[in-house]
Amino acid sequence: MSLQYAILLFIVLLASTTMRNEAIPGGWTPIKNINDPHVTEIANYAVTEHDKKTGLNLKLEKVISGETKVVNGIIYCLNISASDSNKHNIAVLERQQFRKLTSFAPLK
Ligand SMILES: *[C@@H]1O[C@H](CO)[C@@H](O)[C@H](O)[C@H]1NC(C)=O
Repeated sequence: MSLQYAILLFIVLLASTTMRNEAIPGGWTPIKNINDPHVTEIANYAVTEHDKKTGLNLKLEKVISGETKVVNGIIYCLNISASDSNKHNIAVLERQQFRKLTSFAPLK
């Protein structure tokens, strides 16, 4: 087996393992301590980002519930209530110092 072939095989195996991990259902873990300052920080980040995008001036009221999932970083999926007295479901990807709001939707 040539070295190039071995390297290629390794990359293919690595890629398929990564994809398999992401596809595993039930990979979500409920957040037990919903008052964790870091969870509040993530929720505040989501509301602030949403405000920037929409020009609204919402504030976080509280985090109701949430789940996390590890995928080359952590996805936080949170149910929050905001100052518009509506409930929202938000998702934030956090990878080291990097954060991205990936979803901000009404929760019925
Ligand atoms: C958000 O609330 C809905 C409705 O109560 C629930 O089905 C869902 O599991 C909650 N999601 C999270 C991330 O807590």
